[in-house]
Amino acid sequence: MAIGIYDSGIGGLTVYKAVAAHFGRRDLIYFGDVARVPYGNRSPETIVKYSLECGRFLKDRYGISALIVACNTISSYALPALEDDLRIPVLGVIKPGAQNAVALTKNKKIGVLGTHGTVNSKSYVAAVKAVDSTVSVYQQACPLFVPLVEEAMLAGPIPETVVRETVKDIAKTGIDTLILGCTHYPVLKPLIAANMPGVSIVDSTEYIINDIEKLRLPPEQGLREILITDDTSSFLLLKNLLVGNIPVEVVTL
Ligand code: DGL
Repeated sequence: MAIGIYDSGIGGLTVYKAVAAHFGRRDLIYFGDVARVPYGNRSPETIVKYSLECGRFLKDRYGISALIVACNTISSYALPALEDDLRIPVLGVIKPGAQNAVALTKNKKIGVLGTHGTVNSKSYVAAVKAVDSTVSVYQQACPLFVPLVEEAMLAGPIPETVVRETVKDIAKTGIDTLILGCTHYPVLKPLIAANMPGVSIVDSTEYIINDIEKLRLPPEQGLREILITDDTSSFLLLKNLLVGNIPVEVVTL
């Protein structure tokens, strides 16, 4: 039984890439709801509704054994609903990212970049404080980052200006560790890092891999498949850049 890896769009491919590299013999189905991206500025109710539709689709069609929620926004709002509804292990990215950041920080000041949804949910604040309540957390919503990535605008004056202007306040807080609290953002990491000198940058993939290992699922054939809910040329462009020649199927929910 395959593992489903689900994001609102292309961002979760950063997680898919890491998981696929580590678990050569697991069947991995990626699901990108590109017809409805971004989720990050939608209401919690809508995020839960979309997530259940996508999770049920994967369970009904593939009988997936576990669902990796490769999206911070969905992880912030929909994990309990998905677990309840699908009745399979559902792993999110918030806890692993928070644990990783707490292990790294020396001055106990951690920054979080995320969508409006993730920032408003304060899910990272809670997850960091659950590990170490003495750590201060500074958050910054970055609503223009996801459209840049979905449009494959990763270099040049527009993304440079957007990133510089968006992170300029959080760069002054004295944080020594920064969580990329959206799976789209690792693609912009060089630009983000250039504006955050001396700051350690954390993404969640390493700890997600530990969590998947703990599920102790049996080996399979190593099937790779990518499903999307709309056909966009920028998805294909970035998909080829991130994970190469994996077949893509457009599906209707
Ligand atoms: N990749 C998402 C996240 O990690 C998605 C953002 C969005 O759809 O707005 O939050």
